[in-house]
Amino acid sequence: ELGAYSHFMQKEIYEQPKAVSDTAEIFLDAGFIAENFGENAEAVFNDIDSIKILACGTSYYAASTAKYWLESIAKIATDVEIASEYRYREVIANPKQLIITISQSGETLDTMEALKYAQAMGHKHSLSICNVMESALPRASELVVYTRAGAEIGVASTKAFTTQLVALFGLAVTLGRVRGYVDDTKLVEYTNALRSLPNDIQYALNLEPQISSWSSKFADKPSALFLGRGIHYPIALEGALKLKEITYIHAEAYPAGELKHGPLALVDENMPVVVIAPNDSLLDKVKANMQEVSARGGELFVFTDLDSDFSDSEGVHVIRTPRHIGVLSPIVHTIPVQLLSYHVALAKGTDVDKPRNLAKSVTVE
Ligand code: M6R
Repeated sequence: ELGAYSHFMQKEIYEQPKAVSDTAEIFLDAGFIAENFGENAEAVFNDIDSIKILACGTSYYAASTAKYWLESIAKIATDVEIASEYRYREVIANPKQLIITISQSGETLDTMEALKYAQAMGHKHSLSICNVMESALPRASELVVYTRAGAEIGVASTKAFTTQLVALFGLAVTLGRVRGYVDDTKLVEYTNALRSLPNDIQYALNLEPQISSWSSKFADKPSALFLGRGIHYPIALEGALKLKEITYIHAEAYPAGELKHGPLALVDENMPVVVIAPNDSLLDKVKANMQEVSARGGELFVFTDLDSDFSDSEGVHVIRTPRHIGVLSPIVHTIPVQLLSYHVALAKGTDVDKPRNLAKSVTVE
């Protein structure tokens, strides 16, 4: 089943152009129409005034990324919460709030219980984004859209995450249409972005030799810091989770603007700092944050775009993903952090596909 690959994680990373294009087809074939989410989706979408997304782990980071799209494209207030936290607190239910659950397996107990709790508290609309047909979450939800990632075997989630992002982007554009915020010009822009995404991902995959050359700089370190801003902050979080999950290196992610509020104290030559620095409107801010790291002797590993004006210098290593691709940039910038973790795990000799203490599907509390 592995074919030419050494691990399922590696295979699944490389399956992303196809997985993403299969999932994008939902919106490219039928259009960004409500019916992609269920028969009565149009009525539901017209009835809601806000969104709450509940999920765990990597699926929670997909939710955190989608918040930016849902608020900027569909202009709908979106709240994101860890399922295991939500289910044990007193919530103020809003029957006009759509509850979205995101789950690769569709069987994660905390996410399932969080949905049931929301429903018991009076939420009447729910949508599940799931990779496994007819699993528990879609069965319990009013609306559903399935990601088309195919089976994901590696415990570390890779193609499930990027396909969740595609489905969530599709949802943001669909809701934007329903709510009148996405005009025809924008629709063309979003459609084209989805069309070229598989190629943009392929470009990032081709960076593997450069990324693997960084692995020895991480393998002997006790910890690493990941920085991002805006919509790329959740990608930094996902990068840190991948690294700790399969290499057992302690990793944390911070919004780069928070550095001087504490984590800067950790920075020295033993703490590699990975920066997700696409050529977007926050780049100058990120550069200023990188200066703060350099000034403390920290070594920077920067993922930026081809068209930004970075160059390697003492203590600053740069890898360039394609030209800044705009709204779908977080999806493309996920690939390098997946590959980085994978190569650090190879360098350390850890069990890539079955990291210690973890299960693929968490069906217990
Ligand atoms: O099946 P789910 O998407 O509900 O799983 C949620 C998490 O358990 C999962 O994403 C976990 O964090 C991954 N192992 C991360 O790579």
